[in-house]
Amino acid sequence: MATRHSGDAAMSLDVAAVRADFPIFDRLIDGQPIVYLDSANTTQKPQSVIDAMSTFMATAYAPINRSAYRLAAEATDAFEAARSATQKFINARRAHEVVFTKNATESLNLIVRSWGYANLHAGDVVLLTHMEHHANIVPWHQLAAERGIVLRWVPLTADGQLDLTNLAPLLDGAKAFSFTAMSNVLGTITPVRELCAAAHAAGAIAIVDGCQYVPHNVTDVQAWDADFLAFSSHKLCGPSGIGMLWGRETLLDAMPPFLGGGNMIADVRLDGFTTAPLPAKFEAGTPPIIEAIGLHAALQFLSSLGMANVRDHEMQISAYALRSLTERFGDDITIHGPTNVEARGATFSFAFRDIHPHDLSQVLDQRNVCVRAGHHCAKPLMRLLGAPATARASFYIYNDESEVDILADALDSASDIFGT
Ligand code: ALA
Repeated sequence: MATRHSGDAAMSLDVAAVRADFPIFDRLIDGQPIVYLDSANTTQKPQSVIDAMSTFMATAYAPINRSAYRLAAEATDAFEAARSATQKFINARRAHEVVFTKNATESLNLIVRSWGYANLHAGDVVLLTHMEHHANIVPWHQLAAERGIVLRWVPLTADGQLDLTNLAPLLDGAKAFSFTAMSNVLGTITPVRELCAAAHAAGAIAIVDGCQYVPHNVTDVQAWDADFLAFSSHKLCGPSGIGMLWGRETLLDAMPPFLGGGNMIADVRLDGFTTAPLPAKFEAGTPPIIEAIGLHAALQFLSSLGMANVRDHEMQISAYALRSLTERFGDDITIHGPTNVEARGATFSFAFRDIHPHDLSQVLDQRNVCVRAGHHCAKPLMRLLGAPATARASFYIYNDESEVDILADALDSASDIFGT
């Protein structure tokens, strides 16, 4: 059973209680606990998510939307309850504005392939930023190659924030502004509401990549006045295999379907087809049913913690990590991204002495410290940083300050091994 947590915004997280909900942390490797600092990549799963999925499979599994028997009706209700929970989690107006996809990458591709192809033509401008994940770059490059749209890029400041000095001219004539709410490399949190307002003032729609932001912060698409939001379940304690797309109803209604097949049609004839209403229009084929059940449990789990508390906790860890790592290592460590915890999440890409990030991650692994090393699917940003790769430590609800110290000790041991 999941431990009960307070949703009181004034309290920070009880990390020991949160950790007790995650069975993976009972595991020892070489007799030592796991120090999991790779949650920007994917998060660990609480027992309630594991139980919800296995109970559903054991006692309630059935097809959805297609069969009239009670078991199928129950499964359909459970699937739709996951949609309603997602709507509530991001404060969307309507449940049918939430579309389930395979992952956030598919959500972004859906926007480009459906909205983009229907609305963009040669010479039309789409504004992106230098800190986008490949999932918010490559589909636009594909559209540029096929349609001749023009991509513009918001540059960054020296401390890894968006340089908005020339936002108005960059947006001039743009039809869409697609940007991350939080960088998966720098941890930078972008001013989403301001960016949406600027996009709208220029006549562009605002597309938000919320993959890194939504799991760590209170999300309110209405307060943002966004047009689309893409995010994924596996980064917020849910299972992999299900992603979410939220879109403004009027936009989704006017868009052509992304994939064709079962479930997404109202009628099919020899001479054509008509589409089903939202959200089925965008959910061709058998959807991730079991994964939706797990997603629902994950959203309940995070809601029980309180997303304001999650943010507060991560700001505390960020402050501690920035202070202690720079005090201990001085110029030997370069932490990319903002130094102000208000402007960042607890994701830290760093360079340490002259040790290659891949070597570093292997040595850290000897102490069960799990970090990602590489280009983090953000090669344009890596070029800007002047590094082909960085090591990245990313903290979440089950991490505490003692794990920053373990990371620091492990960095020292890497230094000993490489003689730097
Ligand atoms: N999974 C990707 C990362 O690690 C997005 O940042």
